[in-house]
Amino acid sequence: MTKPSKATNRKEFIKTLGLGAIAITAGNMLSSCDKGEDDNNTGEHCGTTDETTAGPYYVPGTPNAVNLNFQGAAGTPMKISGTIYGGDDGETPLANVRVEAWHADDSGQYWPAGNDNYSSYNPAEVNLRGIGFTNSNGQYAFESIRPGLYPGRRRHIHWYIVAQEHEPIFTQSYWADEKGTAIEAQDGTDTNTEDCRYVEFKDDGNGGIVGEFDIYLKKS
Ligand SMILES: [Fe+2]
Repeated sequence: MTKPSKATNRKEFIKTLGLGAIAITAGNMLSSCDKGEDDNNTGEHCGTTDETTAGPYYVPGTPNAVNLNFQGAAGTPMKISGTIYGGDDGETPLANVRVEAWHADDSGQYWPAGNDNYSSYNPAEVNLRGIGFTNSNGQYAFESIRPGLYPGRRRHIHWYIVAQEHEPIFTQSYWADEKGTAIEAQDGTDTNTEDCRYVEFKDDGNGGIVGEFDIYLKKS
């Protein structure tokens, strides 16, 4: 899980060093972490998370689930977690935020491959989607399997975030190790290459992958 406020931590880190000369050195050291670089690795972020299309497979009304793979589909185990930030300063962890995620299976298929309400489907057709809520520290966590590729898209997870007193957003997260590849080049769906939506997944040591995706909401 991430720290409550990365930007604040950076400022406090510099302040703690005390002497101006050292602070300048620290500033130079950290200059590669400027706004626009990868949030999940450098400790900086891109400001309010950008929206992008919900796509054709958003199914409203899916159950609450920590494990999105409740049908036990085959694939690479994946854990993704993060913190939802907002508030007047844009960097306050938000509790009880509704975090909805959905993604394709290992072969690039959605379950269901449609966008009607959950109640209109046979429950056995529904998988790899669900709703969680952030805890008192603003943190959410899901388990699932790594989504597969389907034509025209880079690998991605869809998100729909709803928090009180903030603007709801549909967005998508991507895989940092696919950035700049041919897979990405043929994906014209989301032309915004906001670095903070590329998640650096790591091996979990047990054949799975684990990543962090923090989201920054705009007050309404
Ligand atoms: Fe998709």
